[in-house]
Amino acid sequence: IKFFVGGNWKMNGDKESLGELIMTLNTASLNDETEVVCGAPSIYLDYVRSKLDQRIGVAAQNCYKVPKGAFTGEISPAMIKDCGIEWVILGHSERRHVFGESDELIGQKVAHCLESDLGVIACIGEKLEEREAGTTEDVVFEQTKVIADNVRDWSHVVLAYEPVWAIGTGKTATPDQAQEVHEKLRGWLRENLSDAVADSVRIIYGGSVTGGNCKELAAQPDVDGFLVGGASLKPEFVDIINARS
Ligand code: PGA
Repeated sequence: IKFFVGGNWKMNGDKESLGELIMTLNTASLNDETEVVCGAPSIYLDYVRSKLDQRIGVAAQNCYKVPKGAFTGEISPAMIKDCGIEWVILGHSERRHVFGESDELIGQKVAHCLESDLGVIACIGEKLEEREAGTTEDVVFEQTKVIADNVRDWSHVVLAYEPVWAIGTGKTATPDQAQEVHEKLRGWLRENLSDAVADSVRIIYGGSVTGGNCKELAAQPDVDGFLVGGASLKPEFVDIINARS
C-alpha cells in the first residue's frame, strides 16, 4: 500500500501565496514512496496544475454529479479532467454540514466521478455528539456503505476518516483512536466487499494533523496516509508528506 498524503487548501490562498507554497513543494525533498495530492480551490485548479511539479497530484475539492448542463456555479468531472487533474475530494464534512450535502448526493457524485475516470478521496466521519453517544461505528459504516454502493473499481478510491470534532479544532484524534476506527473500517470492507479491497484501499486520517503529530499517527498499522487542512498551507506539509521516512 502506497502512503497517501492529501492537502486540502479549502477556500484559502491567492495566486501569490499559493505560488509560494508551490515553489516550496516543487523544491522540497519528498519521499517518493508517498503519493501526494493537493486540493486546490476550483478557480485555481488550472493555475495550480500548470505550476506544481508533475510528481505531485492535484485534486478538486468538490464537483457535481453530471457531465454538463444548467447547474449554475458547479463544475463537472469532465472539466476537472480537462484541466489535467486526476482527483476530487467528495463528502468532506464541510460539504456535508455547512452545505447540507446528503449521503445520497455524495454517493451519486462518487459514481459519476469514477465513471469519468477521476480518482475520489471519499470523506467520512462522526460528529462529537455521535462519538459521545457511542455511535461512531454506526455513523462511519453507514457513510461508507453509501459510498461503497457506488463503487465498482476501488483502485481509484481513497477513504478519508475525518472525525468532525478534530477538523480545524487542533484536537487531533489520538493514534489509538484513529487506529481503532481505521481497523474497524478495514474490517467492514473485508466483510462487505472483499479481502482484495480491504487489503488495497488506502484509509487516510484527517483532523488537525501537524508536523508534530504525524509520525505517531503514521506509525499506526491501519493509517495509510493523511488528509491535511490547515497544515497543508504551511511548509510543515513537507514534514507530513515525509512522516513515514
Ligand atoms: P484540518 O482539516 O487539518 O485543518 O483539521 C482537515 C480537513 O478538513 O481535511
